[in-house]
Amino acid sequence: MSKQVKRLYRQFSPTHYDVVIKLSEDKKSFSGHVTVTGERRYKPSSRITLHQKGLKISNPKITYTDKKGDSSPVNIERTVNHKAYDELRFHSDIQLKSGKYKLSMDFEGKITINMDGVYPCFFTVDGTKKRLIATQFESHHAREAFPCIDEPEAKATFQLTLEHDTVETAISNTMPVEEKAKDGRTTTVFGKTPVMSTYLLAFVVGEMKSKIAKSKSGVTIRTFATENQIENTEFALGEAVKYMDFYEEYYDIRYPLEKCDYVALPDFASGAMENWGLLTFREQALLVDEKLSSLYSKQYVSLVVAHETTHQWFGNLVTMQWWTDLWLNEGFASWMEYLALDNLHPEWKMWTQFAVDDQQIALKMDALEHTHPVEVEVKHPDEIRSIFDVISYSKGASVIHMLNDYLGADDFREGIRQYLKKFSYKNTTTIDLWQALEDTSGKPVKSFMHCWTATPGFPLVSIADGGDHIKVAQSRFVTNPLSDARNDRTAWPVPLLVDGVETSIVDKASVNIPIKKGDEAPLKINLGQTGFYRVDYDNAIQERQIEQIKSGKMNDLDRMGLLSDGFEVTKAGYQPVTDLLDLMAHYRNEDTLPVWEVMSSVVGSIRSTLSETDHSNTLRDAMKPFINQLVAQQLDRLGIEEINDEPHLDTLLRPLIVGLAATADNEKVVEYLLSEYRQKIDGNKAINPNIRGSIYSTAARKGDEKVFNELLNLYKKTLSSDEKLSITAAMTSFEQPELHDKTLDLIKSGTIKLQDISYWIAYSLMNRHSRQVTWKWIKTNWPWLKQNIGSDLSFSRFPLYSGRVFTTDESIEDYKKFYTTNMEPMLKRTYAQGLEVATTNQQWHKRDTEAALDWFNSQNISNQ
Ligand code: BES
Ligand code: ZN
Repeated sequence: MSKQVKRLYRQFSPTHYDVVIKLSEDKKSFSGHVTVTGERRYKPSSRITLHQKGLKISNPKITYTDKKGDSSPVNIERTVNHKAYDELRFHSDIQLKSGKYKLSMDFEGKITINMDGVYPCFFTVDGTKKRLIATQFESHHAREAFPCIDEPEAKATFQLTLEHDTVETAISNTMPVEEKAKDGRTTTVFGKTPVMSTYLLAFVVGEMKSKIAKSKSGVTIRTFATENQIENTEFALGEAVKYMDFYEEYYDIRYPLEKCDYVALPDFASGAMENWGLLTFREQALLVDEKLSSLYSKQYVSLVVAHETTHQWFGNLVTMQWWTDLWLNEGFASWMEYLALDNLHPEWKMWTQFAVDDQQIALKMDALEHTHPVEVEVKHPDEIRSIFDVISYSKGASVIHMLNDYLGADDFREGIRQYLKKFSYKNTTTIDLWQALEDTSGKPVKSFMHCWTATPGFPLVSIADGGDHIKVAQSRFVTNPLSDARNDRTAWPVPLLVDGVETSIVDKASVNIPIKKGDEAPLKINLGQTGFYRVDYDNAIQERQIEQIKSGKMNDLDRMGLLSDGFEVTKAGYQPVTDLLDLMAHYRNEDTLPVWEVMSSVVGSIRSTLSETDHSNTLRDAMKPFINQLVAQQLDRLGIEEINDEPHLDTLLRPLIVGLAATADNEKVVEYLLSEYRQKIDGNKAINPNIRGSIYSTAARKGDEKVFNELLNLYKKTLSSDEKLSITAAMTSFEQPELHDKTLDLIKSGTIKLQDISYWIAYSLMNRHSRQVTWKWIKTNWPWLKQNIGSDLSFSRFPLYSGRVFTTDESIEDYKKFYTTNMEPMLKRTYAQGLEVATTNQQWHKRDTEAALDWFNSQNISNQ
């Protein structure tokens, strides 16, 4: 068990901070001064405690102001740094009464490369190396910049003053109110912020350029980037303005600040951060180069901009009380980003993408015994990192999606408006949101939602045709056949989402539901896939479903749902893989992206999991004719080259089809991709960024050291982070052992930014040829990884990256041995999850490998 931290907010509640931070000229350290005013509460003691980490504190002073307004100094007998808790304790020789106090002190800190607190970002302009200084305070890193009460509940106003070089631009949450320059140094004083949490304070200092626009209501919207990237912020700027307009309308609350900045930072640990009025982004999440960016990455930029903008209300104006309710911030924003995109880009069909990219991902993760409830207890800040995960984000978003459907869009929006108005500048817990929605809709939101957010997992609902009724039963769905969690008897309130039966919500383990007179048993429940559960049908119903699929009568999301439920039920051992393959064989006419994503994941999982130890490629080779036949129709319809004015989802589907064909060694496709690659390298041809991934990866898969060097040069040269990512995927897919060593050597060489290391490692683990040496590399370089990216989100996911690719007894044993001897609070849950995924895959491998091989061989398809 982790140690439980005390909430410092309960003994001292700040109302205002004056913070001065002076960046040193070499940008390696800073010094400063803070004055914090606040209220001391509860029982008297002789101590006041703040948070601080890694700072040197001097000249502390405390003043007490009594009810009449008279102030008197408080003697500080000793100052103690309590390192294990990041606490800075001031002890007095007298009992400190409740009332108003002012604390002030000087401090000094170092600027280190870990991408949190105050940190440097590195970039090059015309061959000159430069750096920006930026901040990342979420979740608990404000304490590394100045002493404070660093808890989300401790909301206060902040006035920041920065001292920096005059040639540099300095931005913060608010606009400057005063700037004084002297001897090449400038002191910038920023306006007072609204009442807010410490994790939302931010600043960026350095040589940047900007673009500016205005929202309908007059809010100034700006984008910032380094000089050579500023033109690539044009797309994000346009999106930001439109999302600002959309949210002001949806929430019916004006954006409370005068400006909102979107800043692309050359080094950034996660994707983006919603600091109030100063949103910061990894370059990949903000920049779009109209020539070099893929459509998918453009859509991603739009999603991230919409996500961080929505936090300006949901998260910043109203904030969770403690990290247990982190999902309120992240789950809601992860749902709302889709609503906003759907509104602005209806032709992108975002909800169908949501069903696969969020909901299906969440259903997979939540089918582990070692999942966690959406509302998750957090005892110590070191555990916070591990809950920024699929459950808080994507399950959170999925249960909100289900609720929005249950209440209807209008009642849902009204409840959200009331909630935000009632709790503006305050903090909340999950129940406050349910209460607001219950009040406005008159529906029992608390009892409907409680089970979905407070208990782990979700049900497998089974449906059988009983003639004049259907038999409905539910039990927890756990993929691992060896898990005791399968005996969990929770009964969820399951919305059936179907016409023609008498009941809409089932909250019992099993019931018979009458079919309405004149109707027959429904063909499918969970219509439109808004419910967060999986379904298993009896054979009679399944046969009717197949008829519908074949005759094109079932809609895309329902086809997607049937196949993905079939897939997971197979992995869980409830049906043989041959049943799944029989079902998928009926999907040959399929032409939509969401369904193809599931089909490609079925094919990919069978190929990677069931043939993991298959060194002679028997299964892989046997699959190729089937895959080629499966993609033939779409390859024909879409072609390899883009068609003018085609639907958005077709442009996104093509890379998937081309990629599948390439891995199945489709001659025509491989030849095309290799020729594009040659022309790009030899003649600098502008290749289609949407299939660039397949072009580079195929070249690598078929290539040698020459290709390795060509790709490496390209990696060093390109400014596009989207292209860099395609190259990363390619450079980690070589088959030659000597190239694997060269790839891994790059990680510590400085060629790869710290922010990108985890891609290289996760991808190298996925390549079965480099899996073992990568695992060895991780073990050897663990201390280096810990020191350099140990506080990043990606580090907490390492056990998952490795667990998901191991299926043999030896590798699983080694996995256990390594992580148990190198355990940390942030790895505990992901370790258990990784182990569970490995065990489940191993079971599946044992059960179904032979049957899969027989099935593919029995298809008698000639290759191409
Ligand atoms: N608040 C988070 C950023 C964050 C994550 C801060 C982890 C500290 C620790 C932000 O709103 C966020 O969710 N960013 C996402 C992108 C988003 C589009 C899902 C991210 O960083 O991946
Ligand atoms: Zn977020």
